[in-house]
Amino acid sequence: MTRNTIFKTGRELVLPKICILGSTGSIGRQALEVINALGPPYEIVGLSARNSYKKLEEQCRLYRPKQVALNNTEDAALLKENLGDLGVEVLTGDEGISSLAGDTEADLVLVATVGFSGLLPTLSALKSGKKVALANKESLVVGGELLSREIPQFREMVIPVDSEHSAIYQCLLGQNKEKVKKITLTASGGPFKNLYTEQLKEATPAQALKHPNWSMGPRITIDSATLMNKGFEVLEASWLFGLELERIEVMIHPQSVIHSMVEFVDGTVLAQMGTPDMRVPIQYALTHPDREPNDFPALDLLKHQLTFEPPDKERFPCLDLAYQAGKAGGTSAACLNAADEVAVDLFLKGVIRFNDIPRYIELTLKEHENVEEPSVDDIIEADWEARNRLVKTVARLG
Ligand SMILES: NC(=O)c1ccc[n+]([C@@H]2O[C@H](COP(=O)([O-])OP(=O)(O)OC[C@H]3O[C@@H](n4cnc5c(N)ncnc54)[C@H](OP(=O)(O)O)[C@@H]3O)[C@@H](O)[C@H]2O)c1
Repeated sequence: MTRNTIFKTGRELVLPKICILGSTGSIGRQALEVINALGPPYEIVGLSARNSYKKLEEQCRLYRPKQVALNNTEDAALLKENLGDLGVEVLTGDEGISSLAGDTEADLVLVATVGFSGLLPTLSALKSGKKVALANKESLVVGGELLSREIPQFREMVIPVDSEHSAIYQCLLGQNKEKVKKITLTASGGPFKNLYTEQLKEATPAQALKHPNWSMGPRITIDSATLMNKGFEVLEASWLFGLELERIEVMIHPQSVIHSMVEFVDGTVLAQMGTPDMRVPIQYALTHPDREPNDFPALDLLKHQLTFEPPDKERFPCLDLAYQAGKAGGTSAACLNAADEVAVDLFLKGVIRFNDIPRYIELTLKEHENVEEPSVDDIIEADWEARNRLVKTVARLG
């Protein structure tokens, strides 16, 4: 049966018109590759980036979207000039990206921007009834509670792209969610899994950017090295699957073959496996609930010895900081995310050391004045306040 026939049966199995926010990044580019290989009826109708206007222009010439958005206004003006011959509508600024997310004619919006920038476009897409393929975990980290209050049905509208959450999502299909005992998110352990605390002090950005299994954008790569990424994933899973934090655990599995597991009350454990290749969960998010063939490398279990160990929370305190912020609720996770974004940036610029990242985040969290049941404005304020506070603390403590 072809995809077009599926459409003619009236079963809405394919959401062919796609808008990609963050199309110039690691996930965005892989999504374009997947869509290219899937072919018609998949169609790109919108793209966005922060300031990579040249890459965005190349993508526009290849995929011919109707609308694009660039965060940076000056770059957007240059893009508009360069794209004069194509008649693409160019939107600008944060508002431009949010209105693209809400007003696009897409059936599915893939949110693949990085950090806090994903929250407002995700809200905008969901509020206008669009399905969202969510790579930007930070949207749920900072705004999960807000989303569940403002859009109670959001869980039916979001399909996860993160490989761990895609794994859990697939393990839960057709299951009674009331019978879940716990979920286990696997983590590779990152490039510094075997370093001593003393060695962590000397870890350089170049070393931290070399992830053993995954090729990703800089922020998530550093977050993988500190285990903050896993902490964010715990919070993301809690909102996505409606589970208390106590029922979400993390296990180090350096081979990244088992992407995550669900344990049910009868002792059955379902796991989803595959090669560490983000194109697979991206493709699943686009073709769900169907599957399509592809030519990505297949998993060969004979080539792997699967091992597991608990995370070392002493050497990698970011994981516990995420649990703490999640338990505190309110704007605490917005503070956590903002402090982490700035700390990672300062580490990459050589201003602070690797093991200063959790130290400064903890100090910022300690001073945070939590706001329960936050509005969007409360979250934005908590974000700004945490960023400023962390920078001031670094300046003070050197
Ligand atoms: N990469 C992975 O394998 C992976 C796996 C699982 C989950 N994720 C999640 O997916 C998201 C994207 O990660 P990534 O690795 O693809 O990041 P990335 O390579 O750094 O790409 C980020 C994208 O977002 C755009 N962007 C950055 N800041 C922005 C802002 N303030 N406003 C609007 N757009 C902005 C960038 O545009 P410019 O090019 O103009 O800077 C780029 O298109 C993150 O939330 C990450 O945690 C990633």
